[in-house]
Amino acid sequence: MTKHFLELQDISPDKLVSYFTLADEYYDASQGKESRDDLSGKTVANLFFEDSTRTANSFYLAGRRIGASVLDFTGAGSSLSKGETLLDTARNIYAMGIDCFVVRHVSPGAPAMIADALDVPVINAGDGAHEHPTQGLLDVYTMYRELGAVEKFKGLTVAIVGDILHSRVARSLCFALKTLGSRVILVGPRTLVNKHFEAFGVEISYSLDKVLAEVDVLYFLRLQRERMSSGLVSSLKEYKFLYGMTQNRMALCKDDVKIMHPGPINRGVEIDPEVADGPNSLILKQVTCGMASRMAVLYSLIGEKSD
Ligand code: NCD
Repeated sequence: MTKHFLELQDISPDKLVSYFTLADEYYDASQGKESRDDLSGKTVANLFFEDSTRTANSFYLAGRRIGASVLDFTGAGSSLSKGETLLDTARNIYAMGIDCFVVRHVSPGAPAMIADALDVPVINAGDGAHEHPTQGLLDVYTMYRELGAVEKFKGLTVAIVGDILHSRVARSLCFALKTLGSRVILVGPRTLVNKHFEAFGVEISYSLDKVLAEVDVLYFLRLQRERMSSGLVSSLKEYKFLYGMTQNRMALCKDDVKIMHPGPINRGVEIDPEVADGPNSLILKQVTCGMASRMAVLYSLIGEKSD
């Protein structure tokens, strides 16, 4: 059966740990310090129908640095504007001899639709507000590298702060953290934190200040204004006052609290530059760990010894 990497909702703890082990093996290659040919002879096609900086480039370099040929396709400038459907686009690129698709699309389910239609492994690189599983994986892998042992996730409290409602990143991260046994608190205004998340075993707080002292990781999200109907936040000033991460708020946290963000950052809104660039920030480390995590996913789907 063709394997895919479409969501983290039902992933097992063992599977997550197996990705950590592979990512550790690729860590040097992910930095460009070692060149590998694990995927030589394979072609990965990145199909990005929605904007991306980190995810698209990271998949490109991840594939290249372990030996794959990588085709970068963006919807802009393609025959989609002439009425070609998503599936026909994918079918035509598949006919060029592709071993794996990496798909980002504004519609939830688009990567799964390609996975259903074609006999080729598909990686979801973000589908609407559904999931962004390689982001969730790289986030927990970044934490794992800080913690040093998988068992330590059980003692970890993570607050995910901001626009939970529109965030595929938050969903994938919740699933990964709950799978590993961590405590997760979702923090944001009532309009952006939907109660139905409680079904995933997470807690909800509408006050950031109330949780600061108890968390080990603060994970901030951008206000996803492109996915928002208007009026969900009254003003950016008020949002920042209630939920923006500032140096003053840092003083209320544990000394070794870790600050994370998937990017792109809106400096001065959800996070101040002094915090984003400060000593507790793991934000760029997430990007580095993303390379290794994506190498691990690519290898596990199309590598020689893929299981
Ligand atoms: C996110 C995305 O596109 O889902 N960014 C990312 O992939 N690192 C988050 C966002 O757009 O805010």
